[in-house]
Amino acid sequence: MKLNKEINRRRTFGIVSHPDAGKTTLTEKLLLFGGAIQEAGAVKSNKIKKTATSDFMEIERQRGISVATSVLGFEYKGIKINILDTPGHKDFAEDTFRTLTAVDSVIVVIDVAKGVEEQTEKLVKVCRMRNIPIIVFINKMDREGKDAFGLLDEIEQKLGLRVTPLSFPIGMGYDFKGIYNIWEKNVNLFTGDPKKDIEETVEVNDLSTDEIDQLIGTDSADTLREELELVEGVYPDFDIESYKNGDLQPVFFGSALNNFGVRELLDCFIKIAPSPRPKQSDVREIKPDEDKFTGFVFKIHANMDPRHRDRLAFVKVVSGKFERNKPYLHIRSKKTLKFSSPNAFFAERKEIVDEMFPGDIVGLHDTGTFKIGDTLTEGEIIQYKGIPNFSPEHFRYINNVDPMKSKQLNKGIEQLMDEGVAQLFTLELNNRKIIGTVGALQYEVIQYRLEHEYGAKCSYENINVHKACWIEPKDEKSEEFKEFKRVKSKFLAKDKTNQLVFLADSEFSLQMTQQKYPNIIFHFTSEF
Ligand code: G4P
Repeated sequence: MKLNKEINRRRTFGIVSHPDAGKTTLTEKLLLFGGAIQEAGAVKSNKIKKTATSDFMEIERQRGISVATSVLGFEYKGIKINILDTPGHKDFAEDTFRTLTAVDSVIVVIDVAKGVEEQTEKLVKVCRMRNIPIIVFINKMDREGKDAFGLLDEIEQKLGLRVTPLSFPIGMGYDFKGIYNIWEKNVNLFTGDPKKDIEETVEVNDLSTDEIDQLIGTDSADTLREELELVEGVYPDFDIESYKNGDLQPVFFGSALNNFGVRELLDCFIKIAPSPRPKQSDVREIKPDEDKFTGFVFKIHANMDPRHRDRLAFVKVVSGKFERNKPYLHIRSKKTLKFSSPNAFFAERKEIVDEMFPGDIVGLHDTGTFKIGDTLTEGEIIQYKGIPNFSPEHFRYINNVDPMKSKQLNKGIEQLMDEGVAQLFTLELNNRKIIGTVGALQYEVIQYRLEHEYGAKCSYENINVHKACWIEPKDEKSEEFKEFKRVKSKFLAKDKTNQLVFLADSEFSLQMTQQKYPNIIFHFTSEF
């Protein structure tokens, strides 16, 4: 059956890392292998450079680039690969969390010298919560870094993973000779000269013979033998089911910049990484090979042309076949919509296509219909779960600077919130609006975009909020809940979907409140 064939040949994944570990470089090398680009340097980084923190013009420029790199689709050995971009910058972490709801697996890139860094820890935690299959790529082996065993320990401890190396480095930095490929049973020799072909693959059938000594010298060969013995003794055998369940994580070593170890990674990836997985809705689990199309919006990107204000909604196809001009039900508004120009994404370009399959990402032009988390179906009333809001880290009142433009301001705020740029809370007491964000950078982005896209001006005012908690009383009618609402009225707000939120001003007051009202549940995400 055609649908199953298409599903089986799709791999939709994300590359996650702390900034600077080499995500962009690795992505580019994967695209080179796929023939999707011809030369290195063709894919511009979507990362917000450190210098840009106070320069929002730069953010706007980079936002433009990021449309092109949001989804990179290409074919490799008959497999359709979709790489979903996940910003490494911590101020855009929520964007990354949402994108992770649309991937079927991830590759985690770790810098051999820096080891496990903060952003990697956070992102891997999210992947583990969702049992997403993970492959680890330890990058920059051409540089001096941490000892391989030490690093594997660190990955196990800090990331809570159960690792098994599928390749192993022979030396590192100045002494880096190459990689023994445990998965393919061969040696990749590193010449270190980027002008030559720096990679030479030599089959090694028997490590006990002096075949390997000839290649890398006796000392290195002895060390390699010892280390591989240790690997065999200490780490579990690779097992594809354990990997797919998120219980075991294979590790590769290499150097993305030198294009070393990348082909091995990709060849193994297309063999073991899962094709599109079933997804839970509020009613039932939906399988990719079901006849009827379903999908959900995980990202909305504003168009770069501020005059048109049109947006691109990114929909992951979960089941069935998406067809151009076919009517689909937009569950939240209960409206039937048709899309005459759905976009498919390839490396650096998008194209209008007639049909898309599970695992694919469809780009739909939108003038304000979509919100992150929206579900589309052929008529079945289901809602995909799993795109919650987390408590923001920063909170500020937003004020209207130009009273003549309040309509524009409200419209702008609403649309930017639908895009997931930040979260809006409206205080119960006086209807004042509070914007909550993950990073301080978003305030500048919002201010800039309100002015340039909606013609509205805003200012901010500080407010002392430590955390937002979504409130669920065990009994809505209880005296306890009534008292809570009365006593804490100053701290209560509604989010965009009218859920009640408690804005705690400190960790201490949050704890005291939780203790005082034991029959009220304080949730730290909006979906419970
Ligand atoms: P990111 O997307 O994860 O933030 O990282 P990116 O690929 O931009 O890489 C960060 C820096 O690390 C870049 O250098 C890149 O060239 C370098 N790099 C990536 N892979 C390797 C590797 O295998 N070995 C070595 N030695 N370096 C590597 P940069 O100087 O910050 O940027 P650029 O000017 O080269 O773009």
